[in-house]
Amino acid sequence: MSERIGILTGGGDCPGLNAVIRAVGKSASKRGWETLGFLGGFEGLLDPVQFKVLDYRSMDGLLFKGGTILGTSNRGHFAAKTGHGEVQQIPEEILSATKANIERLGLRALIVVGGDGTLTIAQQLFEQGIPVVGVPKTIDNDIEATVTTFGFDSAVASATDALDRLHTTAESHNRVFVLEVMGRYAGWIAAHAGIAGGGDVILIPEIPFNYESICAKIMERESQGKHFTLVVCAEGARERGKDYVTNGVQEKDREAKLGGVGALVASEIQKRTGKETRVCVLGHLQRGGGPTTYDRLLCTMFGTKAVQLIAEGKFGYMVALRPPDTVAVKLTEAIGRLRTVPPSGDMVQTARALGISFGDEF
Ligand code: F6P
Repeated sequence: MSERIGILTGGGDCPGLNAVIRAVGKSASKRGWETLGFLGGFEGLLDPVQFKVLDYRSMDGLLFKGGTILGTSNRGHFAAKTGHGEVQQIPEEILSATKANIERLGLRALIVVGGDGTLTIAQQLFEQGIPVVGVPKTIDNDIEATVTTFGFDSAVASATDALDRLHTTAESHNRVFVLEVMGRYAGWIAAHAGIAGGGDVILIPEIPFNYESICAKIMERESQGKHFTLVVCAEGARERGKDYVTNGVQEKDREAKLGGVGALVASEIQKRTGKETRVCVLGHLQRGGGPTTYDRLLCTMFGTKAVQLIAEGKFGYMVALRPPDTVAVKLTEAIGRLRTVPPSGDMVQTARALGISFGDEF
């Protein structure tokens, strides 16, 4: 039998997952290896195991296809992150059942594509003796040890496009628009799209805001004859001294669902300034659809690098971007500490130099 490897996608989907699967399937097959794609995230590794064989021909059309042909899951037997990101240990019987199935299938290694939660599970599998290689996925761009994750550029492109559209309608109606974007506890999407899309106020988790400051910016614009304002609000943004705004009831063994802060901000702005204020929640439009050109390239580099690491026997590592190259970093260097926007870094300074407010001026 030829060499065999496995791949799965875990956690929330994002643009580019299929492009990674394609790069892995193609480059593995060039080496004469067979690739099994496990279905439904880690669940596909448990009895009855569920996978599809990813042969060279079945990779056609995957480069630009959104979602994941393998399916994914962020619930079930493998919940490693809960609440506000607390880590919990996967039960021993689940880990050993997974190992037994991987050995029975004769897998040389397993490629795990996912964000912090999924890669935390990958590390626990590695500690169990399973040869794993990680690939960093998330629109939130919050994984340490890589300059960027794939999916982020595509999400920023959606958010920037939304801002372009809101700009014209806000200007026509002299309105304030609050655009709530994803990103969990990191403000990367809000900061990048806010700057690229001409936002006037950017609210991010890393810089708690106050309403006096936001409203002062809106009134300053009024006095300059600019009767509309675009506020870009990360879902993890929070008022100084207050907790994150969550959406709905906390489900058992799942991370807190952030959301709703945009509506609160919009209603407070309208109350305080008297300006007609609307909210737009971009939601999963940031995760759907195909990847941007940049993400297609990054996914292709990540996927082929992951296969190369398997060939080198480098397990317990994650592929990472250190421009212009992709490199291998230990999974333990990447997980458990979120990469957030530095409040005094260049990105924030660039925005402030343009007069963009972070809602923290008073
Ligand atoms: O981590 C990616 C992400 O899209 C976050 O930005 C967001 O908070 C969360 O997932 C939403 O998850 P779900 O699709 O489970 O609601």
